Amino acid sequence: MTANYEDLKQLDHTHLWHPFTQMQEWMGEDPLIIERGEGHYLIDVQGRRYLDGVSSLWCNVHGHRKPELDEALKRQIGRLAHSTFLGLSHVPGIELSHKLIEIAPPGLTRVFYSDSGATAVEIALKMAFQYWQLKGEKERTRFASLAEAYHGDTIGAMSVGYSETFHHFHRPLLFPVIRLNPPHIFRYLRRMDEQEALKSAIREAEETLSRERRSLAALIMEPLMQGAAGMWSQPPGYVKALKGICRKNRILFILDEVATGFGRTGKMFACEHESVSPDILCLAKGISGGYLPLAATLATEEIFSAFLGEYQEFKSFFHGHTYTGNPLGCAVALANLELFKRQKILEKMRPKILYLIKRLEEDFLSLPHVGDVRQWGFMVGIELVENKAALKAYPSARRVGRQVIREARKKGVIIRPLGDVIVLMPPLTIADGELKTLVDVVYDCIRQVTES
Ligand SMILES: Cc1ncc(COP(=O)(O)O)c(C=O)c1O
Repeated sequence: MTANYEDLKQLDHTHLWHPFTQMQEWMGEDPLIIERGEGHYLIDVQGRRYLDGVSSLWCNVHGHRKPELDEALKRQIGRLAHSTFLGLSHVPGIELSHKLIEIAPPGLTRVFYSDSGATAVEIALKMAFQYWQLKGEKERTRFASLAEAYHGDTIGAMSVGYSETFHHFHRPLLFPVIRLNPPHIFRYLRRMDEQEALKSAIREAEETLSRERRSLAALIMEPLMQGAAGMWSQPPGYVKALKGICRKNRILFILDEVATGFGRTGKMFACEHESVSPDILCLAKGISGGYLPLAATLATEEIFSAFLGEYQEFKSFFHGHTYTGNPLGCAVALANLELFKRQKILEKMRPKILYLIKRLEEDFLSLPHVGDVRQWGFMVGIELVENKAALKAYPSARRVGRQVIREARKKGVIIRPLGDVIVLMPPLTIADGELKTLVDVVYDCIRQVTES
C-alpha cells in the first residue's frame, strides 16, 4: 500500500533532522518524498517522475534499480548480509580488493575499507600520520591541503577541507593545516589568465611545501575538480606538478577521489588524466554504483609495510568500524566494476561529454548572469553572478541557486546547487535525450530566474 503523502510529511516534520538543511525552512515546506527509482529517474510518492540530475549526491553510476546490481545484492543476501572484517575475512571483500587493485593507479597494493567518503579520508590522514611516526620521522605531524577543498564532515576531514560556511562553529575543534591556493584562486579571484594562474599556483605550492617539508606528513587534494566547495576545476598539469613537489620533498601525496573516482571525469580515476599515482587514494560514492555506503582507502606497499611487526610492538593500524567492508556493499561494488567493463561505460560517455562541453560553451557562457562555467567529464559547475563584468556575487539572501533548482524541480529535474553554483552530475549512463533534457531545463531555469 502506498503511504499517504500528508502522513509521511507530518512524520518527517515531527521526527527527522535532515543533513545540510535549515530545518526551520524545511518544516515550513512540502518535502519531496521519493518512493522509488527507475533508470535515471526518481519517482515520488505521488507518482511524479524526476530526472536524477545529480546522481543522488554524485554517487549513482548506472541508474536506479539496475538489474545486474539488484541481482548481485540478492545473491549476496542469500549468503551473508554482514560479518566483521576485524580478525575475519569474507569472499566479496577479498574479491573486491583484487579488482580494485587491478584498476587502481600503479603502485597502490593495499585496500582498507570503510563506509563513507569522510571515513576514507580520516583513514588516509591517520595512515599517513602513523606512517611517519613508525618511520621515526616524528616531527612530520602536519598536513597541507588546498583552499576551498571539501573532504567530508568528520573532524579530520573538516580540518583539511575547511569551509567557513559549513564548519565555522567547529573551528576550535579542528587541527591547523597549511593551505595552498589552487589555480582558480589566481584565475577567477585575481583575474589572471589560465596559464599564468597555473604557474602562480605551482610556484606558491613549491615555496610553501619545500619550506615546510620537514613538518609535513602529507598533502591531500581533490584532483582536477574541487567539488563540494564550489566545483572549482584545475587546469591540466596542476596535479602532476603537486605530485612532483611532494615527491621531491618526501611528503606523502593523498588523492581524495571520493567524488572524481569511478568515471566521473571521463576516466576511471581523475589522476589518470595526469598519469599520476598517489601514495594513498580515497574512494567512496560511485564505488558501489550508488547503492550502499562503502568506501576504500588504498595505499602503497611502502606505507603498508611500515605497519608490520610483532604484535607487542603495537605498530598495527588500530582503526576500524563495525561495518568495515560490509559484504553486501562489496558484492554490489564487484557487480558495478563488472558493468563498467562489460558495458564500456567510459567509452560510451565520451560523445556525451563532448555534447556537454559544446552546450556549455555555446549556450551557457554567453548568458548575462553566468560568471564562470567549470567542467571535467560529467562534473559541471555553473557560477551565477549578479554582475558579470565585475564577477560580483548575488547577495546570499536572494538564494538564486535555490530558486533555479526549485524551478527545475517543477519541470521534472532534480539538481542541487552549491550556493549560487548550479551543479550538473548526471549518472554516467544517462541517455542522449535525457542529457539534452537536463541541459535544456537548467538553461531555461537559469534564464527564467536570473533575467526576470
Ligand atoms: C571529495 C570528497 N571527499 C569526501 C566527501 C565526503 O563523502 P561522504 O559524504 O560519503 O562522507 C565528499 C562528499 O561529497 C567529497 O566530494
